[in-house]
Amino acid sequence: MWLIMKILILFGLFIFDGLILHCQALVRHTFVVKEAPYTRLCSTKNILTVNGQFPGPTLYVHKGDTIVVDVYNKGKQNITIHWHGVKQPKYPWSDGPEYITQCPIQPGAKFSQKIVFSTEEGTLWWHAHSDWSRATVHGAILVYPKLGIGYPYPKPYSEVPLILGEWWKEDIMEVQNDFLENGGDPVVSDALTINGQPGDLYPCSKSGTFKLMVEHGKTYLLRMINAGMSDIFFFSVAKHHLIVVGTDGSYTKPFKVDYVAISPGQTLDVLLEANQPPDHYYMATRVYSSANGVAYDNTTGTAIVRYKGNYTPSSSPSLPNLPDYNDTNASANFTGRFRSLASEDHPINVPLNMTTKLIFTVSVNTLPCDDDSCDGPNNTRLSASVNNISFVSPSIDILQAYYNHINGVYGDQFPNFPPLVFNFTADYLPFELQLPKNNTEVKVLEYNSTVELVYQNTNLVAGTDHPMHLHGYSFYVVGWGFGNFDKDKDPLGYNLVDPPLQNTIAVPKNGWAAVRFKANNPGVWFMHCHIERHLSWGMEMAFIVKDGERREEKMLPPPPYMPPC
Ligand code: C2O
Ligand code: CU
Repeated sequence: MWLIMKILILFGLFIFDGLILHCQALVRHTFVVKEAPYTRLCSTKNILTVNGQFPGPTLYVHKGDTIVVDVYNKGKQNITIHWHGVKQPKYPWSDGPEYITQCPIQPGAKFSQKIVFSTEEGTLWWHAHSDWSRATVHGAILVYPKLGIGYPYPKPYSEVPLILGEWWKEDIMEVQNDFLENGGDPVVSDALTINGQPGDLYPCSKSGTFKLMVEHGKTYLLRMINAGMSDIFFFSVAKHHLIVVGTDGSYTKPFKVDYVAISPGQTLDVLLEANQPPDHYYMATRVYSSANGVAYDNTTGTAIVRYKGNYTPSSSPSLPNLPDYNDTNASANFTGRFRSLASEDHPINVPLNMTTKLIFTVSVNTLPCDDDSCDGPNNTRLSASVNNISFVSPSIDILQAYYNHINGVYGDQFPNFPPLVFNFTADYLPFELQLPKNNTEVKVLEYNSTVELVYQNTNLVAGTDHPMHLHGYSFYVVGWGFGNFDKDKDPLGYNLVDPPLQNTIAVPKNGWAAVRFKANNPGVWFMHCHIERHLSWGMEMAFIVKDGERREEKMLPPPPYMPPC
């Protein structure tokens, strides 16, 4: 009897030990979503933050790590957190977009999210994925190579997250509620920020300006993120070149530039060589805004690169040259320069035989307004769509409806092609074409299907660039161009040798972009424009990627607790 009990106790301890070891292997982080007072542009207001920080805490991981983030909602509003660019293999449960993969975390509730890093390496980020709260609820994720493995470029002396964003004097929820109510464009931001600071060119901002202290002769890795809500940004450092070495958690062949263009959602890894005479220099950012007649924030956000040492700096730092606000070529040409390494250590795997070809138009639209009093063009209500379907958010998340076979939450008839073919990029388009359908449709993909998706921009209402982002995958950007996509001619020019691997692609104004991916990550995956007003208006849809036959090809079961609706 005693012996049996002893054996049981020992066995129990053993299991207990094993569990503890297992738990210790998973690094845990705590994210407390709460309001905190922040002073910018001469006034103080409460903003929603993670752990009181703005920008929020940086997560440091190695390729292949799995971590857990315990998200506590101590705020007054619903929230979800998304890990932008993290594929979460077979595990969409922690992905975060509200009403797509989860119901929001309600005030007072907690949701433990498991974040599974697999092939990503470089810079990613996390952000709120509910309402407009991501304006202040965001932070960097630095994904280092596996231990003992270096970068495919000389090791930088130091690394610096550089988060570009926007600041509104008004409360961000008011900004959102106002434009959704009046049907027009949201009010533009009051400042552009670098690491949360507007910089010297705004009132009451000088003392907070972000400063990067550098040593002459050293190289710095800027881990750039566009966390802005509204526009692509141009960015440059006075008198210095920048060397781009990665984007969206994937390496690129290095290329040297005077400025970069970075889309909302996109990340860039950029080397800055401190090789100029010791002095102080401005880094500056401005928006690229291509929509005719649409207001934009025309201010300039700055930070400072300052050389260490004993010298007398010039009286004021010099400003870099940036492309014009509407310079579409400057943006598209930069975006078109990315190439994958496609080397032995960093091979590529572009799908060549396509089983599924899709063409999605991305459009700004208008809806009739009840009493003709909306603030959109001709008193309409602004809207947006993919293949002329303006996405309607369901009342419970699509993932749970799919997993538990709940009918009536979404339809599976998302069209493979534009429902109507017209000259998408014509200067003038008939008003009737502006009207979208309102629906909740998904596109179902077979496991392992090879998908080519061509985004076709349209010039409806106000043509502009659309940074389209896909959850659960990175895709190869195999081609892009201006005008209407020609399915016979344009594929001949595809880059199938070293196309870049990205999770966000800026579809140029009056142009198209073609991406390819293999649907080997089962789950429900959101796809949307990362310009927040377009997302609010319905420029989004979801893919359901079915399970494969084999055990390791199936979606994993949900965690014990998912937030209820
Ligand atoms: Cu950066 Cu759907 O998100
Ligand atoms: Cu858009």
